[in-house]
Amino acid sequence: MRTIKLGSSKLSVPVIGLGCMRITELEENDIPNYLNHCLELGINFFDHADIYSGGECEERFARGFAELGVDREDIILQSKCGIVPGWMYDLSYEYIIKAVDGILKRLNTEYLDVLLLHRPDALFEPEDIAKAFNELLKKGKVRNFGVSNFRPTQIKLLKTCVKQPICVDQLQFSISFSSMISAGLEANMMTDGAADRDGNVLDFCRLNNISVQAWSPFQGRHGAFIDSNEAYPDLNWALGEIGAKYGVSKTSIAAAWILRHPAKIQTIVGTMNPYRLDEAVKAADVTLTREEWYRLYTSTGRILP
Ligand SMILES: NC(=O)c1ccc[n+]([C@@H]2O[C@H](COP(=O)([O-])OP(=O)(O)OC[C@H]3O[C@@H](n4cnc5c(N)ncnc54)[C@H](OP(=O)(O)O)[C@@H]3O)[C@@H](O)[C@H]2O)c1
Repeated sequence: MRTIKLGSSKLSVPVIGLGCMRITELEENDIPNYLNHCLELGINFFDHADIYSGGECEERFARGFAELGVDREDIILQSKCGIVPGWMYDLSYEYIIKAVDGILKRLNTEYLDVLLLHRPDALFEPEDIAKAFNELLKKGKVRNFGVSNFRPTQIKLLKTCVKQPICVDQLQFSISFSSMISAGLEANMMTDGAADRDGNVLDFCRLNNISVQAWSPFQGRHGAFIDSNEAYPDLNWALGEIGAKYGVSKTSIAAAWILRHPAKIQTIVGTMNPYRLDEAVKAADVTLTREEWYRLYTSTGRILP
């Protein structure tokens, strides 16, 4: 599969990565087969978080992966920390260090290729995070660092103390969850799409060599938007017509829409269905025309002023 460099890190990652948030939906016996299927498709990048099913996702992944007999060095493991579910966010030095130890134990690995701070903590101290990152790097527990759901100013604040490059910002992004696009296109308009909800994070990431990872690539504000969802008739019509032209499914075109953006976005898909995964991967071979890309965008009700 086509790969891209992850920010300024040395990692080459497939343009489609697997998000493991829903892996507990699989029977435990089926997990090794599913992971093997991913590797056959060229997906060697796996996204986790300490909170997915209370840590169960990381544990089941590790047990499944162990059965494959594949070298740890042949896969790329990313996880996240900082959310204390139902309570608060915590990016203190103590919390990060303890969280990473828990992640490594559950994933049964000595190191993470990438650690992301899952969400900004209103009380975060850049000095604290820098101390944690330095220690994790020095001890070989984490090789690269990034963030998720951060605004540009929060990354800048972090960088006042953090020496390591921030190589990723993982953000929600899909054809039908596209305010990162509309805010730019509707600049200075009195329209809904003009609302700046993210501080122009997409442009900021491009300017600063930070990769964007798109989470929930097939979800809109009303759930998964392909086929069964009546909230998106025009989008489904357009996905179907464009898919027929390329000989691929709507799922492939929805992922191709993300990959067509010049920010070279890595798409983190969450399906646990092997057929749907096959379809998502086909997106890597489709390059939408500019007309097709805008047609899909406006078919969600977005305007071009
Ligand atoms: N950083 C963050 O804050 C954050 C937040 C959420 C998620 N994430 C990461 O992003 C990854 C992906 O998120 P996600 O799982 O929400 O992404 P997704 O790939 O958009 O959604 C996958 C879900 O949608 C269903 N689905 C997909 N296409 C469908 C269709 N055509 N019709 C009906 N259902 C369909 C899938 O069902 P099937 O399994 O049956 O295909 C699955 O339940 C997660 O695993 C996690 O790693 C990060």
